[in-house]
Amino acid sequence: MSLGLTLPKAELHLHIEGTIEPELVFSLARRNGVELPFATVDDLRRRYVFDDLQSFLDLYYLSMAVLRTAQDFTDLTDAYLAKAREQGVRHAEIFFDPQAHVSRGVPLAEVMTGLTESLRTSRERFGISTRLIACFLRDLGPQEALSTWETLQPHLEHIDGIGLDSAEVGHPPQLFEPVFTRARDAGLHVVAHAGEEGPPEYVWQAIDVLGVERVDHGIRSVEDGALLKRLAGDRTPLTVCPLSNVRLRCVPELSRHPLPRLLDAGVLVTINSDDPSYFGGYVGENFTALQEALKLDDSVLRQFAADSFRASFLPEAERDALI
Ligand code: ADE
Ligand code: ZN
Repeated sequence: MSLGLTLPKAELHLHIEGTIEPELVFSLARRNGVELPFATVDDLRRRYVFDDLQSFLDLYYLSMAVLRTAQDFTDLTDAYLAKAREQGVRHAEIFFDPQAHVSRGVPLAEVMTGLTESLRTSRERFGISTRLIACFLRDLGPQEALSTWETLQPHLEHIDGIGLDSAEVGHPPQLFEPVFTRARDAGLHVVAHAGEEGPPEYVWQAIDVLGVERVDHGIRSVEDGALLKRLAGDRTPLTVCPLSNVRLRCVPELSRHPLPRLLDAGVLVTINSDDPSYFGGYVGENFTALQEALKLDDSVLRQFAADSFRASFLPEAERDALI
């Protein structure tokens, strides 16, 4: 097996809803009596061709309709953890989208029960420690984010951080300053998607206005030299998702990924899968595809793996034990 698959690593940018394989979409649809607008598993898989972030999000939100009960969320998370273990993942910081479920009539308590039932024993069953990060859907706006923050309150013992995701352009990070301030004041970790499709200005806002500890994607930072200096100087990690960037056409092909420019600037980069069911590979496959396309030395992969633990929210002693 290749080094990219076997290296012990942390995955820090993973939407649990984006791990749902077409087979699971169909089996949950049957279990829950949900009618799907696709005839077969192959028919669904054939739709995994995207023009941009929005065309992906349309299918991502549509397929979520099959997730209805706590058991569904447990099964989904168990399936991810089993797959992640095969690819060397020892620690995973997992995003979920509360609003995408509550807006469909699935109670937040059902979602939380299902996720935590799986995560509670992830270390014993899969050898993977975990953290959970609740993301706000930026296209629903800052008021909705604030009211979602209120509904999260009874569940904060299970939530380690908050994030910001969904359609980026036109929804700048600074709008979400109030909810991020509340989350920081409550002692939660904070991250945000920025600079995936959006401009470098959004990355500046994520770090300066929201105070994020990591930037999710952040690839458009290469367009702004002062921003690269800032990210490198502060050692603010970027959670880069190479196969996602190509599939969503943020990058024309893997061999032209801006990652080498980020590394040359001294930015701390981690490699992640984002929505692996949709983008043709889990985290190990992101490592191997990137190595092949960019002709990276094994030492660079080892650096990514070590930095994935350094960029995690694990306590220092646990982090060091994994590197
Ligand atoms: N939600 C799931 N995947 C996403 C991505 N790549 N960007 C923004 N929001 C997302
Ligand atoms: Zn993402």
